[in-house]
Amino acid sequence: MGDPAEIDSGRSWEDQRSTYDALRARCAVAREESNWVALRHAEVVAAATDAEAFSSQVSARKAIPNSLDGTDHAAYRAVVDRYLTEERVAREEPQCRGHAAAIIDALPRGVTVKTIAQIGTPYAVRSQSTWLGWPADLEEELVAWMRDNRAATGSGNRDRTAEVAERFDQMIRAMLETRRGTPITDVTSELLNDTVEGRLLTTEEIVSILRNWTAGDLGSLATSVGVIVQFLATNPNIQREMRTLVAASDRAALAAAAEEILRIDDPFVSNRRVATRAVNLGGQEIGKGQQLLLNWTAANRDPLVFGDPDRYDPSRNADANLVFGIGPHICPGRALTLMELRVMLEELIGRTNWIDPAPDRPAVRETPPVGGWARVPIVLR
Ligand code: HEM
Repeated sequence: MGDPAEIDSGRSWEDQRSTYDALRARCAVAREESNWVALRHAEVVAAATDAEAFSSQVSARKAIPNSLDGTDHAAYRAVVDRYLTEERVAREEPQCRGHAAAIIDALPRGVTVKTIAQIGTPYAVRSQSTWLGWPADLEEELVAWMRDNRAATGSGNRDRTAEVAERFDQMIRAMLETRRGTPITDVTSELLNDTVEGRLLTTEEIVSILRNWTAGDLGSLATSVGVIVQFLATNPNIQREMRTLVAASDRAALAAAAEEILRIDDPFVSNRRVATRAVNLGGQEIGKGQQLLLNWTAANRDPLVFGDPDRYDPSRNADANLVFGIGPHICPGRALTLMELRVMLEELIGRTNWIDPAPDRPAVRETPPVGGWARVPIVLR
C-alpha cells in the first residue's frame, strides 16, 4: 500500500460516515495528525484481537477494566462480568419497562418531540440509576453532567475533560460514603463488598468501574435511541416490520434489529490502542508507541464484509457486527444495552400508531468524536 490517506480532523462533518466510507475505499489504515486510524473491518478486527501488539493502556490514567491488558485485565474483567450476566440483566427488565412506558405516555401526540432529550436521555439515566441503586433525585445532576461531558469531549480540551471527569468521581465518592457499612441492597453497595484477587476493591477501583459503566455509556444509550428512532421514522417499511415484531413479541428479532440499525449508523465511533512494538497493519508501518484508533463506525460499513453497508439485513450481518467491539475488551454491557433498547422499542412502538420525522425541524448530525445524531425531532401519532 502507498502513502496513507490523511483525515482532516478540522473539517466540518455533515455525516462523518460518508467521510469514512470514502477514506476506507482508498486505504485500510489512514493517518489523523500523529495517530493512525484503522478503517477496514479486517484491520480493526486484527488490531482489536491482538492485545499483545496493541495495548489498551493509552494514557497515564488507569481505567478499570478499559485501560488494562493481559492477566491484570482478565482479573478485573471477571469482576465486571459478574454484574452483567443475562440472568442479572433479565432482573432489570421490569424496571426499564416501567421507565420506558412512563416516558412515552407522558409525551404529547401530534407535535414535535425531541427524541434524545425527551426519550433517550431520561431513559438512560433512570434505567442506570435503578440498576445501580442511585437515588431518583440525582437525575438532574446526571443529565447536566452528560451535557457538560459531551461538550468537553467535543471541545478536545483535555483540562476541561479532566475537570468534568473529576466532578463525576466526586459524585460517586459521595454516594459510596453514604453506603459504607450498610447492608448490601443494590449494585453500588455490592461493589463495596466485592473482591479482586482475594482482597476488597479499593474506593478508587470502584469509582473507576462505576465511571466506565456510566460516564460513556449513559451517552451511548441515549444516542443509540436517537439513531434507532431516526432510522424508523425515515424508513417506513422497516418501522412497519418492527411493529409486526412487537405485536408478535419477537424479542430476539427486535434486539437483532436494534443491533443492525446501530451497525449501519454506529454512534460509538472509536476506541484507542497503542502499539507495543513496530507492527504492520493494512500495509502501514505503525511505530512502537504510536496510537491507533479502531474506527468501529467505518469497519461496520465495510462493503468487503457487508456488501451495500446501508442495506438493512440483521440475519446476514449479525456475525460480523462490531457495534460492541471484539476481542478481550468486547463490551460487557451488550446484553444490558440490547435489553434496554428492545424494551424501549416495545414500549415506544406499542404505545403509538406511528412515528414520523418532524415536518418543521430537520434532524441534526453529531460531530466527531461522537457519531449518530445530535437532534432527532419526531412526531408521535
Ligand atoms: C449503545 C451502548 C454501548 C455501545 C455501543 C458500547 C460499545 C462498546 C465497545 C465498542 C467496547 C470495546 C472497547 C474497546 O475495545 O476498547 C466497549 C467496552 C466496554 N463497555 Fe460498552 N457499549 C455500550 C454500552 C455499555 C454499557 C451499558 C456498559 C455497562 C453497563 C458498558 C461497559 C463497557 C465496559 C466496562 C467496556 C470495557 C471492557 C473492557 O475493557 O474489557 N458498555 N463498549
